[in-house]
Amino acid sequence: MKKIRWGILSTGNVANSFVKDIKHVPDAEVIAVGSRNQETADTFGQKYNIPHCYSSYEALANDPDVDVIYIATPHVFHAENSILCMEAGKAVLCEKAFSIHAGEARTMIQVARQNNVFLMEALITRHFPVIHQVLDWVNTGQIGEVRLVQANRCVRGEFTPESRVMKRELGGGSLLDLGIYVIGFSSMIFGQAPQHISGFGFVGDYGPDEQGASLLEYEQGAMAVLTFALRTDTVNEAYIYGTKGYIKLPDLFAVPHKASLHIKGQSEIEFEKPIIGNGLYYQVKEVHRCLRESLLESPRMPLEESLQIMETMDAIRSSWDLTYPNDSNQSL
Ligand SMILES: NC(=O)c1ccc[n+]([C@@H]2O[C@H](COP(=O)([O-])OP(=O)(O)OC[C@H]3O[C@@H](n4cnc5c(N)ncnc54)[C@H](OP(=O)(O)O)[C@@H]3O)[C@@H](O)[C@H]2O)c1
Repeated sequence: MKKIRWGILSTGNVANSFVKDIKHVPDAEVIAVGSRNQETADTFGQKYNIPHCYSSYEALANDPDVDVIYIATPHVFHAENSILCMEAGKAVLCEKAFSIHAGEARTMIQVARQNNVFLMEALITRHFPVIHQVLDWVNTGQIGEVRLVQANRCVRGEFTPESRVMKRELGGGSLLDLGIYVIGFSSMIFGQAPQHISGFGFVGDYGPDEQGASLLEYEQGAMAVLTFALRTDTVNEAYIYGTKGYIKLPDLFAVPHKASLHIKGQSEIEFEKPIIGNGLYYQVKEVHRCLRESLLESPRMPLEESLQIMETMDAIRSSWDLTYPNDSNQSL
């Protein structure tokens, strides 16, 4: 089978993890990397044996041998970088959060459709085997009607003010870095946009939001209670409560590989499947499946849902003192 040829746009932390994990996918080949300067591109290229190393993102986007580009820059650049690649005719896998606000997400989707190219948000948790199992339990009615989702994605990281996640000007902060996981999880379970949104966020001394709690209400009073934090550790569990029982994910977010199904009056059922690498492998497999089937978006991570999640995050932060530089340009 002909290999799918990847280009990597930027050379930071997650770009390194991605290139390590992609080695587990036999029909994937990383043939190019683009960085803001030649030296960084060359260092990254030598480390992973990547033949084409470029000193600009434009040069990477214009490499005729590249099929699909992985965008791993800070959030404020996702829209601009994705559009650059899509306008050069490339398929794009763009890191989460998809964009800074829904306006950017709308433009990205429009550009994908105009150029007839594949686009997907890299929300890795969605593609883990355990998540497929959980969705199967929910969709086959094992726990009845879903009434409540509770999920935490909270860490106390020792971040310096120089760290990307602590820089509001780069779109760092608990909402876009970590809240996206629990908001995306709730969106996946309920399969719809929330009707009402409330909550609180704490914007710390460095500028970005350090922690937040969100209450989302769906049809018929179903709810999600979600927390996310960069400066507070919690147990990162998720629960899905239905009218007949519940599902527990004991560690949804680091390397989710276990879940249990608890139906009233029955013995607990456990699911466990070890994760390959750091978990980035599964989304690459999904991109390959879509490209080989000529799909322009993933049914597991549809573009309209990425847009809906951005709209939800815009609404969550609208009551906080949290704005980003890109906010002034809603139409991009
Ligand atoms: N899926 C996951 O598990 C996961 C985990 C962590 C992060 N992420 C996501 O991945 C993205 C990148 O996060 P990261 O932690 O890898 O970030 P990072 O280590 O700070 O790397 C970001 C890279 O973006 C490029 N860049 C372009 N403009 C920049 C600017 N003005 N300032 C800083 N860097 C700039 C740089 O690469 P060059 O110098 O080569 O241009 C830099 O190395 C974010 O969207 C984040 O949410 C996902």
